[in-house]
Amino acid sequence: MSGQARHATGPEPTPADGSLVLFGGTSDIGLAIAEALLGDRPGPVTLVARPQSPRLARARARMVAAGATGVRVVGLDVRDLDAHADAVDHAMHDPRAPQEPVRTVIIAFGVLGDPEAAWQDPRRTRAMFTVNTTAAASIGALVAEALRAQRRGGGPAGRIIAVSSVAAERVRRSNFVYGASKAGMDGFFIGLGQALAPEHIRVLVVRPGFVRSAMTVGRRAGLAVDPDRVAGAVVRALDTDRAVVRVPRIFTPLMAIYRNLPDRIARRLAF
Ligand SMILES: NC(=O)c1ccc[n+]([C@@H]2O[C@H](COP(=O)([O-])OP(=O)(O)OC[C@H]3O[C@@H](n4cnc5c(N)ncnc54)[C@H](OP(=O)(O)O)[C@@H]3O)[C@@H](O)[C@H]2O)c1
Repeated sequence: MSGQARHATGPEPTPADGSLVLFGGTSDIGLAIAEALLGDRPGPVTLVARPQSPRLARARARMVAAGATGVRVVGLDVRDLDAHADAVDHAMHDPRAPQEPVRTVIIAFGVLGDPEAAWQDPRRTRAMFTVNTTAAASIGALVAEALRAQRRGGGPAGRIIAVSSVAAERVRRSNFVYGASKAGMDGFFIGLGQALAPEHIRVLVVRPGFVRSAMTVGRRAGLAVDPDRVAGAVVRALDTDRAVVRVPRIFTPLMAIYRNLPDRIARRLAF
């Protein structure tokens, strides 16, 4: 997939207002992106998160501090696939402001887990794919339908920001279950962006490398960045109507090389 990919149709002016919905409502990367977008344009926020998450109170406080004009929480454990339709419907329609369109949806939930246990314990393999792939695609499809309905009803076109990973671009032995699970969601959102382009609903696929967040506590890697750096890149990518953004930017030329390395060389690289 080209890092220079842009949307096939010209950009439509983004709506003047509207709400922001964050699936993965406690995610460090998701919250940083939401903060950056609220800084430009304050509005109401809906956090979709596990109600028992100990991180929820702080997430809510961060949104208020960033300029959210109201914060509500929709409870969802994304492994409960049968609950998706109701949760997305609830998230996309704020009963306190039924006329308020949704401007931005961020999909930022995910699990990393232990890379070796992830393939040696089939229950963990399934759990990784349920969250990172099946739930992401299911929620993505439901969100797309809600944004299309908003558009058909005369409302503005919204946009979807899907947090994937550079690990999705070429699956590596060192974390192949995670990489494969993100590859599935990445391909889904790339295709969804192409399918929704005629309706001016934009999809931005974000591919960070290693980000210092709750997910990676205790781990180290090269080219590490903070969530704020991802957020800044997302804002710039939205401004320039990109379909894909890698963070840091050096991953665009690096992945162009790495994607095309023969297997016998790629498998010898120690990362
Ligand atoms: N950190 C990195 O190096 C990195 C790099 C590339 C891509 N990413 C991707 O970035 C996204 C955000 O990760 P992050 O770095 O911001 O880590 P994070 O702060 O740990 O965020 C992970 C989020 O996923 C949620 N989640 C996990 N399982 C869930 C479930 N069953 N139901 C509902 N929510 C669930 C967590 O909610 P709880 O509070 O309930 O646990 C949390 O909100 C993920 O998709 C990840 O794959 C991360």
